[in-house]
Amino acid sequence: MKILVTGGAGFIGSHTIVELYHAGHDVVVVDNLCNSSRESLKRVAELVGVAEIPFFEADIRDRSALDHVLTEHPCEACIHFAGLKAVGESVTKPWEYYENNVSGTLVLLDVLRQHHCCNLIFSSSATVYGDPAEVPITEACPKGRCASPYGQTKSMVEEILMDMQKADPLWNIVLLRYFNPVGAHPSGQIGENPNGIPNNLMPYITQVAIGKRPQLGIFGNDYDTPDGTGVRDYIHVVDLARGHVAALTAIERKCGLAIYNLGTGQGYSVLDVVKAFEKSTGIPIPYHFEPRRPGDIDSYFSNPAKAARELHWTAQYGLEDMCRDSWNWQKQNPEGF
Ligand code: NAD
Ligand code: WQD
Repeated sequence: MKILVTGGAGFIGSHTIVELYHAGHDVVVVDNLCNSSRESLKRVAELVGVAEIPFFEADIRDRSALDHVLTEHPCEACIHFAGLKAVGESVTKPWEYYENNVSGTLVLLDVLRQHHCCNLIFSSSATVYGDPAEVPITEACPKGRCASPYGQTKSMVEEILMDMQKADPLWNIVLLRYFNPVGAHPSGQIGENPNGIPNNLMPYITQVAIGKRPQLGIFGNDYDTPDGTGVRDYIHVVDLARGHVAALTAIERKCGLAIYNLGTGQGYSVLDVVKAFEKSTGIPIPYHFEPRRPGDIDSYFSNPAKAARELHWTAQYGLEDMCRDSWNWQKQNPEGF
């Protein structure tokens, strides 16, 4: 299949393109590079053994640019990663987040339908469950109030997509709710490249390991969890990428609207992650406890059975693999791309 990949130069997009090529698909990438660089796509091309990945530096809010891309490269499906994703920043810049993530998606959808490309996979997030009514979380769990404008944009785009699919059954739309993506390609050639101080746990740990930060601050040790630190469902980005290839099979069998959790089903605490990192790399991670971070909840992890049953997808990598590959990427690319 020929696939338009928005946001394909980013962390999850770049890993997904590798897996799409391995599965025999073709891509064209649109990214405005606001949180990524061309270098990631050069590395992807090397990894998959092609001269270059077809790429347009363009914004999804730019209707004529998208029209041009789809005229030159007719696509059967779109995997839509493009979006702003910093939870804290979204609290201080809500307009920018709604405009980029929601308005951007509306423009993209309009251009896609004009080009009769009505197959879409959307990067959603477990954040749409809010403080979940049940753990492990199944797709039947009702959505909750998101703690941030970022989360709201994901939830709103989901609603838009559901309404569009209901109104026009020609659309096949898969909402993938990612849990906590970490890790990097085992080659160490592509990975996550956060700007400034990392907000997320794994990149913070790897920056402590490489000596950029003196120690990890653990946000809260009085949660209702076995060791008092927050529990999450970390998933290796290569497994996540393969989840998108699997989701294309749902599109191929004309799924209409389908929703899948992409997680391992296993919850690990912050201290579990620190210990696994130390074990798999041999590098000690000094830490201290800090107050809880506003908006955090004690524990959430997925029930990934639906994706296993319907997409024949299950995560293959464990926590130590995630730590090893995160470190391998950080070590080989101390300054990112
Ligand atoms: P990322 O920032 O590495 O990738 C997003 C890409 O989109 C970047 O390359 C950025 O330059 C591009 N982009 C942003 N706005 C754009 C626009 N208007 N036009 C064109 N390109 C634009 O982030 P990621 O971690 O790879 O996340 C990919 C998607 O998955 C995002 O939508 C994110 O919200 C979602 N998601 C991420 C996580 C996570 O923890 N990483 C979890 C759940 C969902
Ligand atoms: C994990 C755990 C922290 C950093 C976020 C988004 C979510 C999704 C994935 C996009 C928590 C603790 C963290 C640190 C710490 N993204 N922590 N010290 O918050 O589960 O999810 O990324 O959709 O929407 O909210 O991930 O990696 O920030 O935190 O103790 O320096 O690590 O409190 O328990 P989170 P995270």
